[in-house]
Amino acid sequence: MRIDIITIFPDYFGPLEVSLIGKAAQRGDITFRVHDLRTWARDAHHSVDDAPYGGGPGMVMKPEPWGEALDAVLTAAGPARLVVPSPSGLPFTQRMAAEYAREPRLIFACGRYEGIDARVVEDARVRMPVDEVSIGDYVLAGGEPAVLVMTEAIGRLLPGVIGNARSAADDSFGGGGGPMAGLIEGPVYTRPRVWRGREVPPVLLSGDHAAIARWRRDCALRTTAANRPDLAARLAAGQAVTDTAARGEGAARGAGAARGAGAARGAGAAEGEGALDARDRELLFEAGLRRCGTLKAAAPHRLTQQGRAWGLAALAEETEAALLQACA
Ligand code: ADE
Repeated sequence: MRIDIITIFPDYFGPLEVSLIGKAAQRGDITFRVHDLRTWARDAHHSVDDAPYGGGPGMVMKPEPWGEALDAVLTAAGPARLVVPSPSGLPFTQRMAAEYAREPRLIFACGRYEGIDARVVEDARVRMPVDEVSIGDYVLAGGEPAVLVMTEAIGRLLPGVIGNARSAADDSFGGGGGPMAGLIEGPVYTRPRVWRGREVPPVLLSGDHAAIARWRRDCALRTTAANRPDLAARLAAGQAVTDTAARGEGAARGAGAARGAGAARGAGAAEGEGALDARDRELLFEAGLRRCGTLKAAAPHRLTQQGRAWGLAALAEETEAALLQACA
């Protein structure tokens, strides 16, 4: 894969020479080209910004240097997808990282100040696919740190970049559609077996691979419910779709409850996220009940509303009824 980066701070990208991504670049699995935007600035001061039309604070990046830079970089090495980091862009996800890892070539355009004149992206769209992408709900001083984040997330998914290909499939969020799809990872352990009196969970020493996979999924579900109720809600909503399909159309879901962790979970899942089996639902339910207990004491009137936010109302009807009864 080839990655071109256009920036006014080429030195910012020194970290691409170290660690996993640096090694991948040394082997030739990724080729990085970092370009200084000021090369395409035409005035004596190499200026790349100007005051915003309509007034307001800060400066806006001028269209001319960007237009010329993108033309030159695009023609230098064939078709590419342009990625423009911006706090107003689409949220960058593991799934997007996996999609980008399949592209032969990406160009990143790092804006600074108040952003790049909007006509630059409009004009670029005529020649190549363009995505404006945000790495989170906060504002950075420029796109450079976002590009470092995205190149690491993308680069580690390229074939041969991480030693154990399965560890990418098992990642939190599981963008590859593996058993962790839609979940965040639980705890991990290494030797010694006992450290400061704390033991590694015995199941991990049992050699029972199905039990270990189930335990890991249990932990992932609990962690997801505790730390990322938004993700738990999406999982539960996927389950609701599946439940409706099973009830209404007699879809073959019965076997789902008996499936162990790691079994094919694609069927019925929302947007490719893992489907829930009976044990998964039980765990989400328990996690919800624990939260409900706290909430019941604090503000009972918010219970139904909060239950919906956690996605519990989207679970099977009998589960919802039991939840509401338990918290009544
Ligand atoms: N540039 C400034 N803030 C950003 C963010 N949150 N994500 C991507 N690019 C940005």
